[in-house]
Amino acid sequence: MKEERDSSYGFDTLAVRSGQHRTSEGEQSEPIFPTSSYVFANAAEAAARFSGERPGNIYSRFTNPTVRSFEERLAALEGGARCVATASGMSAILATCMALLRAGDRLVSSAGVFGSTVMLFNNYLRRFGIEVSYVPSADLEAWERALRSMPQLVFVETPSNPLTEIYDIRGIAELSHRQGATLVVDNCFCTPALQRPLDLGADVVIHSATKYLDGQGRCMGGAVIGDADRVGKEVFGFLRTAGPSMSPFNAWVFIKGLETLSLRMRAHSASALSVARWLEAQPGVSRVLYPGLESHPQHGLARAQQADFGGIVSFELAGGREAAWRLIDRTRLISITANLGDTKTTITHPASTTHGRLSAQERERAGIEEGLVRMAVGLEDVADIQRDLARGMGS
Ligand SMILES: Cc1ncc(COP(=O)(O)O)c(C=O)c1O
Repeated sequence: MKEERDSSYGFDTLAVRSGQHRTSEGEQSEPIFPTSSYVFANAAEAAARFSGERPGNIYSRFTNPTVRSFEERLAALEGGARCVATASGMSAILATCMALLRAGDRLVSSAGVFGSTVMLFNNYLRRFGIEVSYVPSADLEAWERALRSMPQLVFVETPSNPLTEIYDIRGIAELSHRQGATLVVDNCFCTPALQRPLDLGADVVIHSATKYLDGQGRCMGGAVIGDADRVGKEVFGFLRTAGPSMSPFNAWVFIKGLETLSLRMRAHSASALSVARWLEAQPGVSRVLYPGLESHPQHGLARAQQADFGGIVSFELAGGREAAWRLIDRTRLISITANLGDTKTTITHPASTTHGRLSAQERERAGIEEGLVRMAVGLEDVADIQRDLARGMGS
């Protein structure tokens, strides 16, 4: 059966074609293998597979053909040697930390990371003797100072959730490597369609597949991409043992999501830029945070490091929490939900939702103000999104 493989194919060809292994049925679309285990020809075959002497599937906590197709496709898109799929974005971060850190190690993270990531680092990793510290700035001098502590792992989310801060991946990779640290980048907001951290020097990429990789708000999933040793051996080893692996059904949804990834990311970016420009002109909006705006503090860096600016627009209302909640409650079209990366535009108040379980001090350090609103601009008509926001603002 004809199955052409060529790693020199362009991004969109890889998004549609890579990772497909047609069965003898000749199916055009990728199949789903909903099976928890695999049958061996005899006891000796079972023993050989378990010992690793012979390759092949054993049990779907370890490997599954549909999950493997997703892993191969995403690895091709990120330009990584290996990808390991997980049950959620948080389990991708957990698996990476558990695989690459030991008690007594140090983890340095950008301060503006997703709320559950902060909780994982502060409330759980610290319990196991891992020292966690945060760099409160995107400024490379601050990173240079912070990395003098010789951490084993450096974690950066760029653009950050929800403030859309941009971190210099190439610069931080160089500084991390000088100290012998592994750089992990959460590439959830951009996806490989807009940013490829491994090309910029990062060692490991994390995804919440729940977001743009799915693209339609259907399934939970995550992924870790990187080299054969750290990801293929260490992260996979943890996952296989601990169990937060991806279901084949979810993997199939993500496989189909990846096929339209770059089209969607371009469309999200174009609409988000229009909405951000429109928001800048609204009275009562004190600040709009969107990397595509000239007013964004790291606009130049975003331009250099990303192919486009993505779908997340955050903004601050002068009236604080009251004004933010009023706007959110008055919208009719936009969904009030904590997810992002959906075709449907979503809106949330980070201080009371995604970052609500952080202490006031943690929220302050992460720069989450009471008047902050985060939107993930979907694929509806921009005029309808703006009309809904205008209704929310009472204009
Ligand atoms: C940047 C970022 N990383 C990781 C996660 C966690 O992903 P999941 O919800 O799939 O566990 C999220 C979720 O919102 C996120 O926004």
